Amino acid sequence: MTTDAYSIPQLVADLRRVRAEYPDEHRLLATVRPLALRAAESRELWLEDHMLAPDREQGFSLFPLHEEPDHSLAVFAFSWLPDRGTPPHDHGTWAVVAGVVGPEWNTFWRRLDDGSRPGQAKLERIGAKMFLPGEVLAMPTGTIHQVWNQTEAVTVSLHIYGVHINHTGRSQFDPEKGTAEPYIARVARQR
Ligand SMILES: [Fe+2]
Repeated sequence: MTTDAYSIPQLVADLRRVRAEYPDEHRLLATVRPLALRAAESRELWLEDHMLAPDREQGFSLFPLHEEPDHSLAVFAFSWLPDRGTPPHDHGTWAVVAGVVGPEWNTFWRRLDDGSRPGQAKLERIGAKMFLPGEVLAMPTGTIHQVWNQTEAVTVSLHIYGVHINHTGRSQFDPEKGTAEPYIARVARQR
């Protein structure tokens, strides 16, 4: 363990302070960024061997590291199988993702419709970026992205959300079909 190791409990204590200090989401995200990076760099404190075998059906696994009783400030270790990922989705809250093991490809989308037709959504692809370990992706509420592991090995990232993503009513999208539907992820059980 390095002397400047930064544990999940330390991260959570800082997240609570930051949230109280910065009601503005833009400033909150800027402040959470370096915290996520420090926690990612201290992976020896939270990354366990069993996390490196993601759910084969889902294509990825999320391992809960923290969640407040009201489902806010949810922290997860995510691991991703090779050539697997997510559909385009939103989070229903802010999200900060720090790379830990391997690169992760992110495609970003923008919603063109007003969301008034249930089950329907018109999306436009607006960009893509590869995120590496040591990099942080901060996403304001409303961001739509798709994550894919284009490598031949399992990748890992550390995710922090304003609210647990299964408690926000978020959506997954099929841009070709123009559809939107609820997106609930299967969360790995805590050991
Ligand atoms: Fe996401």
